[in-house]
Amino acid sequence: MGRVGLGVAVGCAAVTCAIAAALVARRASARARWRRAVALLREFEEGCATPPARLRQVVDAMVVEMHAGLASDGGSKLKMLLTFVDALPNGYGPPRFLTAALAWNEEGIYYSIDLGGTNFRVLRVEVGSGSVINQKVEQQLIPEELAKGTTEDLFNFVALALKSFLEREDGQDVKKALGFTFSFPVRQNSVSSGSLIRWTKGFSIGDMVGKDVAQCLNDALARCGLDVRVTALVNDTTGTLALGHYYDEDTVAAVIIGSGTNACYIERTDAIIKCQGLLTNSGGMVVNMEWGNFWSSHLPRTPYDISLDDETQNRNDQGFEKMISGMYLGEIARLVLHRMAQESDVFGDASDSLSNPFILSTLFLAAIREDDSPDLSEVRRILQEHLKIPDAPLKTRRLVVKVCDIVTRRAACLAAAGIAGILKKLGRDGSGVASSGGSGRATRGQLRRTAVAIEGGLYQGYPVFREYLDEALVEILGEEVARSVTLRVTEDGSGVGAALLAAVHSSNRQQQGGRSHIV
Ligand code: BGC
Repeated sequence: MGRVGLGVAVGCAAVTCAIAAALVARRASARARWRRAVALLREFEEGCATPPARLRQVVDAMVVEMHAGLASDGGSKLKMLLTFVDALPNGYGPPRFLTAALAWNEEGIYYSIDLGGTNFRVLRVEVGSGSVINQKVEQQLIPEELAKGTTEDLFNFVALALKSFLEREDGQDVKKALGFTFSFPVRQNSVSSGSLIRWTKGFSIGDMVGKDVAQCLNDALARCGLDVRVTALVNDTTGTLALGHYYDEDTVAAVIIGSGTNACYIERTDAIIKCQGLLTNSGGMVVNMEWGNFWSSHLPRTPYDISLDDETQNRNDQGFEKMISGMYLGEIARLVLHRMAQESDVFGDASDSLSNPFILSTLFLAAIREDDSPDLSEVRRILQEHLKIPDAPLKTRRLVVKVCDIVTRRAACLAAAGIAGILKKLGRDGSGVASSGGSGRATRGQLRRTAVAIEGGLYQGYPVFREYLDEALVEILGEEVARSVTLRVTEDGSGVGAALLAAVHSSNRQQQGGRSHIV
């Protein structure tokens, strides 16, 4: 080989080495970035961990806050709002159906309006021969601009929807009682009136806060020429409890896990210290906990939760809700994936869409977690079509599934802890200590059957969430106690229950003996 040939050979070898070195370096750096993504995942998983011991701390904190919220207004972030509902429909089994709760002359057709989440519903409920014999529900999405517009626009929309529903259904031949489910925190003055404390779930109509919600609707109904008035103003949890109790007398609480989350339960009036002297016919009252606003240092909060909170209109409020409900879960996952995209190359160059807040809805999060195909084809489709991330390799798709799983598990476990908190407050957690009223009625071996009515898109539409919640409840309560607790899904309970409560509380009903005592 001549000198030139030797030079070329050496040159080629040098280039080859350089290329090889560059490849090795690139692979090493890709591995390092992948390791970074995995480290972020681990960190997130640890931050969200909900081992039984931690869940029990959350349960205890919930009970403490319940007491504090019942002791004084402002005593806790848990508002523990009075509902003035002291009688619930009781329809379990034909002979007893509604005879206790409704006078027979109140059989008939009742309407309700259900406003408060993603959807808006108008319902017609026919009560006759001792049962709900018919119900019709019409649902539509609430136009986004209405959730941020003016009080008048929102209530005109609601009143007009009722008007056209009534015209189609019954002409003017209508009972004058209307149930109004309004699923936001309301300070009630009576069962048919109350003022909005603040908005949640992305609603923000400034001029509405502090106003009487039922009055706003009554005014709008009058503007439409409708001779119908709100007879029962209820939270969605209260409506759900009413329907749950109607089907199953052992129902003592109701939980909503949908766009937002909340719970209500039946409390003894003597335990509602902040309203001493409060008299009810039954000695009990449904309390709307507004548990979405529950807070405790035991909650597993991560930096992503803080970022999420900063993005919302109700910063520093609804902390529990922001870890649990459908409005937020997709966004928490999006924040984690976005950080991974920034600090590693797991999503390649096409990860810009991940910087858009709320682009990953909880519906997608659920679909990702539920994809059980071997190659995670649904995950690929969602990444490609909705997040504009094409060609994510299988290991990246698995990472995405894991993130969605962590978010789901934490949410479900915390909801279970909330339910266990209510059971503990009522002395129905098998601990043998009745912290409400100190009656000590529930002791081991004498477990009373307890039913909790439950509703909401996240719980009803996401089987993995339900499984995690059920598992966590068993972990917290133990198998024996958990067996005595039935979580019962109601359908449209928030609206149907409101119609039943409108019937129970309709003004022409005078028979006090007609109430169903609830404690
Ligand atoms: C509201 C509650 C409601 C819950 C479920 C929360 O954001 O504050 O009043 O019950 O959502 O809809």
